[in-house]
Amino acid sequence: MAKTKTVYECQSCGYESPKWMGICTRCGSAEGFQEVRHLPEVEHKSKLPGGVSAAAPILLSEVGSSHEDRSPSGIVELDRVLGGGFMKGSFVLLGGDPGIGKSTLTLQIGRANPSMKMLYVSGEESPAQIRQRATRLGMDNNELYLYAETDVIKVLDQARSMRPDLLIIDSIQTLYRAEQSGMPGNLSQIRECALLLMQFAKQENITTLIIGHMTKEGDLAGPKVLEHMVDTVLQFEGDSNYAYRLLRSVKNRFGAANEIGVFEMTDQGLIDVVNPSQLFISGFDHSISGNAVVCTMEGSRPLLTEVQALVSSTSYGMPQRTASGFDQRRLALLLAVLEKRAGYRFADQDVFVNVAGGMKLVEPATDLGIACAMVSALSNRPVGKNTVFIGEIGLGGEIRGVHRIAQRVNEAKKMGFETAVVPESNLASLKIPEIQLIGARHIEKVLGLLF
Ligand code: TYD
Ligand code: MG
Repeated sequence: MAKTKTVYECQSCGYESPKWMGICTRCGSAEGFQEVRHLPEVEHKSKLPGGVSAAAPILLSEVGSSHEDRSPSGIVELDRVLGGGFMKGSFVLLGGDPGIGKSTLTLQIGRANPSMKMLYVSGEESPAQIRQRATRLGMDNNELYLYAETDVIKVLDQARSMRPDLLIIDSIQTLYRAEQSGMPGNLSQIRECALLLMQFAKQENITTLIIGHMTKEGDLAGPKVLEHMVDTVLQFEGDSNYAYRLLRSVKNRFGAANEIGVFEMTDQGLIDVVNPSQLFISGFDHSISGNAVVCTMEGSRPLLTEVQALVSSTSYGMPQRTASGFDQRRLALLLAVLEKRAGYRFADQDVFVNVAGGMKLVEPATDLGIACAMVSALSNRPVGKNTVFIGEIGLGGEIRGVHRIAQRVNEAKKMGFETAVVPESNLASLKIPEIQLIGARHIEKVLGLLF
């Protein structure tokens, strides 16, 4: 009989080593190594490529087309992120911090789509607790089956005999396989259970959604192994100080990646926010210096967002630069460009930049708005009425063109803005009446015009 093999496995990246290590030599993580025993049978199985059954080869032209075999979840924002609904037989991962609303969102699929037969496997909450939540959500669903089980083999047996339209695992960290060593939630258990579920979803053609908690660093536990196995990775994000939540498709084999859905957490659960720009500029006051509105693209969606800057004299030591919702290094770069290329002096000033609503801006197209907000704060003069700023700033102070300019300007128009400052190179492709367009070529000129 083949011997079991004992190795040590990094709990962050899955690197296997014959010896225990404190810090992983591959990914540098200090999560620690855990002992794993590979059973000969398990080891063999996990080496099946992709885990899909070894059926005979089929001609491409003879493969049945299933590209339109989608079932909408019934939740507008979720369907948008999925690319029109769940693809039948797809394997989807929903990740996010504890308490963000993952269980609520999946349960709400049952509310939005009462005819969808769902098997909700919960290792975290008892059926009574889920019932309580469902009552709170006003759900009355005859096709929703709750199953409190954490043994993956039992779950699969049950799902095979029930054949639901949607199998939900809440969460992958609570599942375990008896033959596999380690506690539920450690990497080898997660990998083994996810592999079995993936095989199940593909072979039985049953859509399977697994919920996964994120670690404090913001990674999904067992990140890389899970991301490679699933067809779609959805990430649920949000700031616990705000009620809105963003659902982002980090990977999607059946739709656009980086698409976002916006929700608001209320007493009746999560509700779709169909007009998110409204949410992020609701408090905008153009008469206050340091305030400006930018337009960022989230997936295929333009989103107007308010940014605020505060500049005050440094009273002691090094000037502070603090950015919330915006990259600190980008802030330093913009300040250097403003000093060097436009002659504004920030060296003896503390600078604070805040993005409204807890939004995170990562797109360089927001540079111009942030620079204008900072100079507005420095000179103590508002940026002007009903104006939106779009453009990337280069190191020479030049304003660079951005993609999807028409969509951004249209969004500004829709939200009642009267003026848009846009890169001059983008002007030619714009023919939008009812909004005044100002072409910007260099940051110094724009600022000269405004202040
Ligand atoms: P939950 O779905 O349990 O989060 P996760 O599964 O990601 O851990 O969400 C829990 C939070 O949502 C909790 O703080 C309470 C809040 N909540 C509401 O505000 N309204 C509601 O209708 C529901 C069901 C939950
Ligand atoms: Mg939960």
